[in-house]
Amino acid sequence: MKILIKNIKQLVQTEDIPKEKVIGKDMKSISCIANAWLAIEDDKIAGFGKMEDWEGISDWTNLTIIDATNKIVMPCFCDSHTHIVYAGSREGEFVDRINGLTYEQIFERGGGILNSSKKLQNASEEELVESALKRLHEIAMQGTGAVEIKSGYGLCVEAELKMLRVIKKLKTLSPLTIKATFLGAHAIPKEFQEARRKYIDLLINEMMPKIAEEKLADFCDVFCEQNYFTKEETIEILGHAKKHGMIPKVHAEQLSNYGGVLAGVEAGAISVDHLEYVGDKEIEALKNSKTMPTILPGAAFFLGLPLPPARKIIEAGLPLAVASDYNPGSSPSGNMNLMLSLCCIQYKMTPEEAINAATINSAYAMGLSKTHGSIAIGKQANIFITKEIPNYSFIPYSFGSNLVETVIIAGKVIA
Ligand code: NIG
Ligand code: FE
Repeated sequence: MKILIKNIKQLVQTEDIPKEKVIGKDMKSISCIANAWLAIEDDKIAGFGKMEDWEGISDWTNLTIIDATNKIVMPCFCDSHTHIVYAGSREGEFVDRINGLTYEQIFERGGGILNSSKKLQNASEEELVESALKRLHEIAMQGTGAVEIKSGYGLCVEAELKMLRVIKKLKTLSPLTIKATFLGAHAIPKEFQEARRKYIDLLINEMMPKIAEEKLADFCDVFCEQNYFTKEETIEILGHAKKHGMIPKVHAEQLSNYGGVLAGVEAGAISVDHLEYVGDKEIEALKNSKTMPTILPGAAFFLGLPLPPARKIIEAGLPLAVASDYNPGSSPSGNMNLMLSLCCIQYKMTPEEAINAATINSAYAMGLSKTHGSIAIGKQANIFITKEIPNYSFIPYSFGSNLVETVIIAGKVIA
């Protein structure tokens, strides 16, 4: 299958020499070609350039030509943090919060993650696959081409394995690139509240070996937070995960400054996510690491949390990624266009910084920056074409709209 997209108004995020991530001041610029062409062969990007330099592809037969006059072409978004395998929904808690309860109070009453856990334990693998496939289709229509999906609503051996097997199935059924994360350390289940050590032992001694044996997870994540897991527990759990071939990630500093970033850096995490309560100490620690700081503006917006210091992180010379955190409790949206708008409007990131955060840097946060996150020859052909718009800044500017018109994933037009 060969596709030629011609007359592209702006081809965004092109790379001649691919890089693994964009850091600090460099995040302010993005390489673009005006009036461009892009060629795709099978599942890869085969070439791109200016229309005026177009020499044609003489030996191409069965070529599909797409005219992108007045339209923008971008690499698909990479969403490096989601929980899109879940059962039911939590709009009741949404209303409880409107009426004054906090996210923490809802958890203490047995709601929150524990509410989703009850629902997930009662759902069949088939139901979970079906509902997650709908969500994957929804985010693909909004321009997402690669997504990380976490377990963490199982919270017992059987249900955690069920979630991860569902994710494995999704990898075969969905055109999106999917990475799986084991998040058994998402909360201490009710029956272990008085015996947390036993639950941690269960994670380490029972769940991890089975996950490793069935090769069910690429990453392992821990929710490092008061009432969830301590810094020391986080380091310990991630240490064991590494021995089982899982790369660490951390839910860090979301509700308080609790040591998640420091734990992540110490464990060699590929990313630390949330960061609402990050301070100077954490920023310093990140400077000497390969860990990608990642903001999740959907969750901070939905829960009314203080905003992570995105500008301070970038100005410290660090990279920054953005992801949706799509989940039923703290961010019931996986719309990366909306995340771009929040980055620009609330976090004062420029459109260029936001696009770098949502493409190449979020690809890095899922170990995919060699193959995803930019327009470069040989990279996977995950791209989207917008409706007619004046330029890429129009995407975050038009908050709430979906300007994505055509989506190509692994070289196939899926919408
Ligand atoms: O990323 N912070 C912890 N975990 C999720 C929320 C999960 C939930 O409330 O269901 C998050 O915000
Ligand atoms: Fe999360």
